[in-house]
Amino acid sequence: MQTEIAFAPLSQIDAELLAVPAVDTQTAKGTDAKPSPVLLADDETVKAATRTVLDSGEFKAGANETLLLHAPAGLAAKRLLIVGLGKQAKATVHSVRNAAGTAVRFAKPRGIRKLVFALPSSETLSAAGPGARAAVEGAFVGDFDPDTYRSDRKDQSIQSFTVAAPAQADRAALEAAFAEGVIVGESQNFARSLVNEPGNKLTPTVLGQRAAEMAKEVGLQCEVYSTDKLHELKMGAFWSVSQGSAEPPALIVMRYEPEGVTDGPVPALVGKGITFDTGGISIKPADNMEKMKYDMAGGAAMIGAMRAITLLKPKVRVLGIVCAAENMPSGTAQKPGDVQTAMSGKTIEIINTDAEGRLVLADGLAYAKQLGATHLIDAATLTGACVVALGMVNAGAFANDDATYAQFDAALGVSGEKFWRLPLGEEYMDMIKSEIGDIKNTGGRWGGAITAAEFLHAFAEDTPWIHLDIAGVAWVEDSKPYIAKGPSGIGVRSILEWVRGFEGASTQTLV
Ligand code: BES
Ligand code: MN
Ligand code: ZN
Repeated sequence: MQTEIAFAPLSQIDAELLAVPAVDTQTAKGTDAKPSPVLLADDETVKAATRTVLDSGEFKAGANETLLLHAPAGLAAKRLLIVGLGKQAKATVHSVRNAAGTAVRFAKPRGIRKLVFALPSSETLSAAGPGARAAVEGAFVGDFDPDTYRSDRKDQSIQSFTVAAPAQADRAALEAAFAEGVIVGESQNFARSLVNEPGNKLTPTVLGQRAAEMAKEVGLQCEVYSTDKLHELKMGAFWSVSQGSAEPPALIVMRYEPEGVTDGPVPALVGKGITFDTGGISIKPADNMEKMKYDMAGGAAMIGAMRAITLLKPKVRVLGIVCAAENMPSGTAQKPGDVQTAMSGKTIEIINTDAEGRLVLADGLAYAKQLGATHLIDAATLTGACVVALGMVNAGAFANDDATYAQFDAALGVSGEKFWRLPLGEEYMDMIKSEIGDIKNTGGRWGGAITAAEFLHAFAEDTPWIHLDIAGVAWVEDSKPYIAKGPSGIGVRSILEWVRGFEGASTQTLV
């Protein structure tokens, strides 16, 4: 998708489709509170062209609601699409992101390959760039389709997406933010393209190759190890998951080391990369098992975030570790009752082989610490219990350090991704004490997302750490106006922003 910014007056922009946002300004409540849609455009000709239809009351400017006008009077554009941002009081830059995605997804099935999206004229929604960045991110998100294996697939991707900015805008700030949005949108889609692959096409080895190819392209250090390295590092927990599969595991290690930064914090991104989760000997029911190809979404998020970090060049060193394996039942698979020794030396009693994500992450976290990580963040499609708790709306977040979480919370303000913090606590840790070894890999039915988090906590220990359980939101079950059904790419944007929050904490030497 080609992207650009235009600074021309909206009515003079020659486009196949010009999308313009609108908000509902009605504040009264009650039955006679009729929606009062207002176009967020300064151009008088555009306003005039939409007046009749906006006055008709047919269009309410609800979030992602659309209305199309052909041959709008006085405009150079062939079509005008009004896109709702919802209630004015609630409209944010995140509404703009979704509106841009909605415009793209409106255009695609209609054979429209080029569109122009007008930034809202409202200062708060587009000031100094965040609006432009969000719009282009949303356009990339909307452009992604997961149907790559359909023979009848006609590529409907958008060829060119232009953001039209108000003439008085601060051009330099806008262009910088826009360029960031392109990188972030492409990186999120890169993660989604990995998650979208079925288990037979994307094995742990292939995931490693994809990460290495990307790393080479953008100039990121990346090494991919397998069985021998797991044994050398004594990663007994990680290895135990892979031992039942004919596919070897992959330990993907990415290092972003900007020139001149030799000290300061080293955040490490640790991702669960189960390329298919059958459950192992504690096998899952057949219904919906096909979904378990997305059990590497946490790993993909880390690979996507590392791509964005490398291209955006923050002055902070970053480690990326993805523990990739296939969880299979077989004659060599681990069994309930087995005891594994993790890299940290802790012994783990395996109660359920389907609680495999925490096993691979236990060693990933320990390795990150050994490599010098000062802060840890992990992302994993870890528990069904998290989906029960938060549904498919919010992902779960846990942290052992409030300041580190506050930095993540600030990142959410930029990313617009929805995470909800859940508690940790000694009582939950008690639920996973083992009588046979140091710890067991499940803690029973209640509080399953939290006992899983406490399991990871036992390996992160006192290092400031955040755990993201993305099981409920890594796959969009029902398509939305701004995103197709399929992989969401959740985590890439927030993790990137969290990492950028460390910038400046290093003593920089001049080079
Ligand atoms: N990959 C699953 C969790 C999952 C569930 C992801 C639904 C996406 C959607 C994980 O490995 C798993 O199987 N967890 C078990 C843990 C249990 C055995 C303690 C679960 O949640 O049932
Ligand atoms: Mn599992
Ligand atoms: Zn799993």
